[in-house]
Amino acid sequence: MTLLILWAVLGYLIGSIPFGMIVARVMGLGNLRQIGSGNIGATNVLRTGNKPAAALTLLFDAGKGAVAVLLARVLAGEDAAQIAALTAFLGHCFPIWLGFKGGKGVATFLGLWLALDWRVGVACCLTWLVAALIWRISSVGALAAAALSTTWIMVLTNGSTFILGIALTLLVYWRHSANLARIKAGTEPKIGKS
Ligand code: G3P
Repeated sequence: MTLLILWAVLGYLIGSIPFGMIVARVMGLGNLRQIGSGNIGATNVLRTGNKPAAALTLLFDAGKGAVAVLLARVLAGEDAAQIAALTAFLGHCFPIWLGFKGGKGVATFLGLWLALDWRVGVACCLTWLVAALIWRISSVGALAAAALSTTWIMVLTNGSTFILGIALTLLVYWRHSANLARIKAGTEPKIGKS
Protein backbone atom coordinates (compact mmCIF):
# COMPACT_ATOMS: atom_id res chain seq x y z
CA MET A 1 0.00 0.00 0.00
CA THR A 2 2.78 2.43 0.96
CA LEU A 3 4.49 1.60 -2.33
CA LEU A 4 1.33 2.41 -4.30
CA ILE A 5 0.95 5.75 -2.50
CA LEU A 6 4.60 6.51 -3.24
CA TRP A 7 4.00 5.86 -6.96
CA ALA A 8 0.83 7.91 -6.89
CA VAL A 9 2.88 10.85 -5.64
CA LEU A 10 5.82 10.24 -8.00
CA GLY A 11 3.46 9.85 -10.98
CA TYR A 12 1.76 13.12 -10.04
CA LEU A 13 5.07 14.98 -9.73
CA ILE A 14 6.30 13.67 -13.10
CA GLY A 15 2.98 14.58 -14.75
CA SER A 16 3.08 18.03 -13.12
CA ILE A 17 6.07 19.19 -15.17
CA PRO A 18 4.53 21.81 -17.51
CA PHE A 19 6.63 21.15 -20.60
CA GLY A 20 4.52 23.39 -22.84
CA MET A 21 5.21 26.38 -20.59
CA ILE A 22 8.88 25.49 -20.33
CA VAL A 23 9.32 25.03 -24.10
CA ALA A 24 7.44 28.27 -24.83
CA ARG A 25 9.54 30.17 -22.29
CA VAL A 26 12.88 28.72 -23.45
CA MET A 27 12.06 29.32 -27.13
CA GLY A 28 10.85 32.86 -26.47
CA LEU A 29 7.25 32.28 -27.58
CA GLY A 30 5.61 34.23 -24.78
CA ASN A 31 3.02 33.28 -22.21
CA LEU A 32 0.79 30.43 -23.41
CA ARG A 33 -1.99 31.68 -21.11
CA GLN A 34 -2.31 34.71 -23.39
CA ILE A 35 -2.30 32.74 -26.63
CA GLY A 36 -5.23 30.92 -28.29
CA SER A 37 -7.13 28.78 -25.79
CA GLY A 38 -4.65 29.62 -23.02
CA ASN A 39 -3.95 25.88 -22.68
CA ILE A 40 -0.44 24.58 -21.93
CA GLY A 41 -0.50 21.74 -24.49
CA ALA A 42 1.04 21.17 -27.91
CA THR A 43 -2.11 22.28 -29.75
CA ASN A 44 -1.87 25.72 -28.21
CA VAL A 45 1.92 25.90 -28.63
CA LEU A 46 1.28 25.30 -32.35
CA ARG A 47 -0.86 28.48 -32.37
CA THR A 48 2.35 30.45 -31.80
CA GLY A 49 3.31 29.29 -35.32
CA ASN A 50 6.36 27.42 -34.05
CA LYS A 51 6.00 23.79 -35.23
CA PRO A 52 9.23 22.47 -33.63
CA ALA A 53 8.11 23.88 -30.26
CA ALA A 54 4.73 22.17 -30.63
CA ALA A 55 6.41 18.89 -31.59
CA LEU A 56 8.75 19.12 -28.59
CA THR A 57 5.82 19.81 -26.26
CA LEU A 58 3.93 16.83 -27.67
CA LEU A 59 7.00 14.62 -27.26
CA PHE A 60 7.78 15.73 -23.71
CA ASP A 61 4.17 15.65 -22.49
CA ALA A 62 3.67 12.17 -23.97
CA GLY A 63 7.10 11.15 -22.69
CA LYS A 64 6.34 12.06 -19.08
CA GLY A 65 3.24 9.84 -19.14
CA ALA A 66 5.29 6.97 -20.54
CA VAL A 67 8.19 7.52 -18.13
CA ALA A 68 5.89 7.54 -15.08
CA VAL A 69 4.31 4.23 -16.16
CA LEU A 70 7.57 2.51 -17.11
CA LEU A 71 9.41 3.56 -13.95
CA ALA A 72 6.54 2.42 -11.74
CA ARG A 73 6.20 -0.89 -13.60
CA VAL A 74 9.93 -1.71 -13.45
CA LEU A 75 10.36 -0.69 -9.82
CA ALA A 76 7.01 -1.65 -8.30
CA GLY A 77 4.85 -3.71 -10.70
CA GLU A 78 1.67 -3.44 -12.74
CA ASP A 79 -0.66 -1.95 -10.11
CA ALA A 80 1.84 0.83 -9.42
CA ALA A 81 2.09 1.44 -13.18
CA GLN A 82 -1.68 1.97 -13.43
CA ILE A 83 -1.71 4.25 -10.39
CA ALA A 84 1.22 6.27 -11.79
CA ALA A 85 -0.59 6.52 -15.15
CA LEU A 86 -3.66 8.04 -13.50
CA THR A 87 -1.72 10.44 -11.29
CA ALA A 88 0.62 11.51 -14.11
CA PHE A 89 -2.48 12.46 -16.09
CA LEU A 90 -3.88 14.33 -13.06
CA GLY A 91 -0.49 15.98 -12.56
CA HIS A 92 -0.64 17.41 -16.08
CA CYS A 93 -4.20 18.66 -15.54
CA PHE A 94 -3.61 20.01 -12.01
CA PRO A 95 0.13 20.75 -11.70
CA ILE A 96 1.39 21.91 -8.36
CA TRP A 97 3.86 24.23 -10.16
CA LEU A 98 1.05 26.21 -11.86
CA GLY A 99 -1.31 26.59 -8.92
CA PHE A 100 -3.18 23.42 -10.02
CA LYS A 101 -4.28 25.11 -13.28
CA GLY A 102 -2.93 22.82 -15.98
CA GLY A 103 -3.79 21.31 -19.32
CA LYS A 104 -6.16 18.80 -20.84
CA GLY A 105 -3.83 15.81 -20.70
CA VAL A 106 -4.16 14.48 -24.24
CA ALA A 107 -0.46 13.99 -25.07
CA THR A 108 0.09 12.52 -21.60
CA PHE A 109 -2.92 10.25 -22.17
CA LEU A 110 -1.38 8.95 -25.41
CA GLY A 111 2.05 8.48 -23.84
CA LEU A 112 0.79 6.62 -20.81
CA TRP A 113 -1.26 4.27 -23.00
CA LEU A 114 1.73 3.59 -25.24
CA ALA A 115 3.64 2.52 -22.13
CA LEU A 116 0.80 0.67 -20.37
CA ASP A 117 -0.14 -1.31 -23.48
CA TRP A 118 1.40 -0.31 -26.80
CA ARG A 119 -1.51 -1.81 -28.77
CA VAL A 120 -4.01 0.48 -27.02
CA GLY A 121 -1.54 3.38 -27.32
CA VAL A 122 -1.08 2.90 -31.06
CA ALA A 123 -4.84 2.47 -31.59
CA CYS A 124 -5.51 5.71 -29.66
CA CYS A 125 -2.83 7.61 -31.63
CA LEU A 126 -4.32 6.37 -34.91
CA THR A 127 -7.83 7.29 -33.74
CA TRP A 128 -6.60 10.81 -32.89
CA LEU A 129 -4.87 11.06 -36.27
CA VAL A 130 -7.83 9.86 -38.37
CA ALA A 131 -10.35 12.10 -36.54
CA ALA A 132 -7.98 15.09 -36.70
CA LEU A 133 -7.37 14.51 -40.42
CA ILE A 134 -11.11 14.34 -41.11
CA TRP A 135 -12.24 17.29 -38.97
CA ARG A 136 -8.94 19.26 -38.74
CA ILE A 137 -9.73 19.96 -35.07
CA SER A 138 -7.33 18.80 -32.34
CA SER A 139 -9.95 18.46 -29.62
CA VAL A 140 -12.12 16.27 -31.88
CA GLY A 141 -9.13 13.95 -32.29
CA ALA A 142 -8.65 13.89 -28.52
CA LEU A 143 -12.32 13.24 -27.77
CA ALA A 144 -12.48 10.47 -30.39
CA ALA A 145 -9.31 8.81 -29.04
CA ALA A 146 -10.62 8.97 -25.46
CA ALA A 147 -14.08 7.70 -26.44
CA LEU A 148 -12.69 4.73 -28.36
CA SER A 149 -9.90 3.89 -25.88
CA THR A 150 -12.12 1.60 -23.79
CA THR A 151 -13.20 -0.21 -26.95
CA TRP A 152 -9.55 -0.72 -27.89
CA ILE A 153 -8.85 -2.03 -24.36
CA MET A 154 -11.65 -4.61 -24.65
CA VAL A 155 -10.78 -5.64 -28.20
CA LEU A 156 -6.97 -5.69 -27.93
CA THR A 157 -6.20 -6.67 -24.30
CA ASN A 158 -7.38 -8.87 -21.42
CA GLY A 159 -9.29 -5.89 -20.01
CA SER A 160 -7.17 -5.40 -16.89
CA THR A 161 -6.90 -1.66 -17.56
CA PHE A 162 -10.62 -1.17 -18.31
CA ILE A 163 -11.50 0.70 -15.09
CA LEU A 164 -8.49 2.98 -15.56
CA GLY A 165 -9.59 3.49 -19.18
CA ILE A 166 -13.08 4.59 -18.09
CA ALA A 167 -11.62 7.00 -15.51
CA LEU A 168 -9.20 8.56 -18.01
CA THR A 169 -11.91 8.89 -20.67
CA LEU A 170 -14.22 10.72 -18.25
CA LEU A 171 -11.37 12.99 -17.19
CA VAL A 172 -10.48 13.84 -20.81
CA TYR A 173 -14.14 14.72 -21.49
CA TRP A 174 -14.37 16.81 -18.33
CA ARG A 175 -11.19 18.73 -19.23
CA HIS A 176 -12.61 19.38 -22.71
CA SER A 177 -15.95 20.81 -21.58
CA ALA A 178 -15.12 24.25 -23.03
CA ASN A 179 -13.99 22.59 -26.29
CA LEU A 180 -17.22 20.55 -26.41
CA ALA A 181 -19.26 23.75 -26.07
CA ARG A 182 -17.26 25.38 -28.90
CA ILE A 183 -17.62 22.27 -31.09
CA LYS A 184 -21.40 22.38 -30.57
CA ALA A 185 -21.44 26.09 -31.40
CA GLY A 186 -19.26 25.52 -34.48
CA THR A 187 -16.58 27.89 -33.16
CA GLU A 188 -13.80 25.42 -32.25
CA PRO A 189 -10.71 26.48 -34.24
CA LYS A 190 -9.02 24.21 -36.76
CA ILE A 191 -5.52 22.93 -35.98
CA GLY A 192 -2.97 25.76 -36.01
CA LYS A 193 -5.63 28.49 -36.00
CA SER A 194 -6.62 30.69 -33.04
O1 G3P B 1 -4.70 18.54 -26.56
C1 G3P B 1 -5.60 19.54 -26.20
C2 G3P B 1 -6.58 19.70 -27.31
O2 G3P B 1 -7.45 18.61 -27.33
C3 G3P B 1 -7.35 20.98 -27.24
O3 G3P B 1 -6.48 22.04 -27.02
O4 G3P B 1 -5.80 24.40 -26.98
O5 G3P B 1 -7.56 23.63 -28.60
O6 G3P B 1 -8.10 23.75 -26.16
P1 G3P B 1 -7.01 23.54 -27.19
